[in-house]
Amino acid sequence: MNLSQARAALSDARRVAVLTGAGISAESGIPTFRDAQTGHWARFKPEDLASPEAYFRDPALVWEWYAGRYRDVMAATPNTGHTLLAQLERQKADGFFLATQNVDGLHARAGSERLVELHGNLTTARCEVCGHIEDLPSPQDFTPPPVCSRCGGRMRPNIVWFGEFLPEQALQASADAFAAADVALVIGTSGVVYPAAGLAFETLERGGTVIEINPDETELTPHLSFSLRDTASKGLATLTEED
Ligand code: APR
Repeated sequence: MNLSQARAALSDARRVAVLTGAGISAESGIPTFRDAQTGHWARFKPEDLASPEAYFRDPALVWEWYAGRYRDVMAATPNTGHTLLAQLERQKADGFFLATQNVDGLHARAGSERLVELHGNLTTARCEVCGHIEDLPSPQDFTPPPVCSRCGGRMRPNIVWFGEFLPEQALQASADAFAAADVALVIGTSGVVYPAAGLAFETLERGGTVIEINPDETELTPHLSFSLRDTASKGLATLTEED
């Protein structure tokens, strides 16, 4: 498949499913995970922060890290990549589905509504006792750990940590959407964390087209229909701009 065929496939598609990763937020100044020079993991080891064991070992340290990331994302703004996906959603209407691995909330702030957040959202917290989920206070008023307004219990970051299960309903909706998709877009993800990375194969196995946008080659690249070596914003502009 070449670029003009990829553009035509996306334009003609009635059902479009999209998976995004940290790369689409890179242009909003949010560090990715595995980019050596800026990635979060360059300074921390995942198991030391983003896991239930880490949290119950040292909740203050884990909340300190997430509170810092919370301040960063609230200071960031959605970029062209986010807004072009919100625009594509308006064009495809009920044929559109967006699954993100990102927890920064930028897709929602860009106007995406047909959206599932597979790994949670760090602008909210979940009560360890009753499971109640609520928005965090504004960053300047926030001192972790938040206390549940419903039961008074301690609240944890509303994130799916390593070793935890993804929200079953969101995962099933994503698998169904990718299985039904004429075209799937995989944008800004290294494709190493499953089950999210496996969604592309739901589309491929049913004869659908999967187009990747990433400045680098990924583990998924060899399996996909077409891979655009570009940033999320430029790649989406190239794929969606009117002739
Ligand atoms: N536009 C598009 N892609 C980009 C850009 C950009 N401007 N900059 C970097 N990338 C790509 C990188 O080449 C890389 O392939 O984004 C990808 C980011 O990969 P990761 O850092 O591994 O992030 P992600 O794939 O989202 O990680 C998946 O792993 O750590 C867990 O739960 C965490 O959701 C995360 C999951």
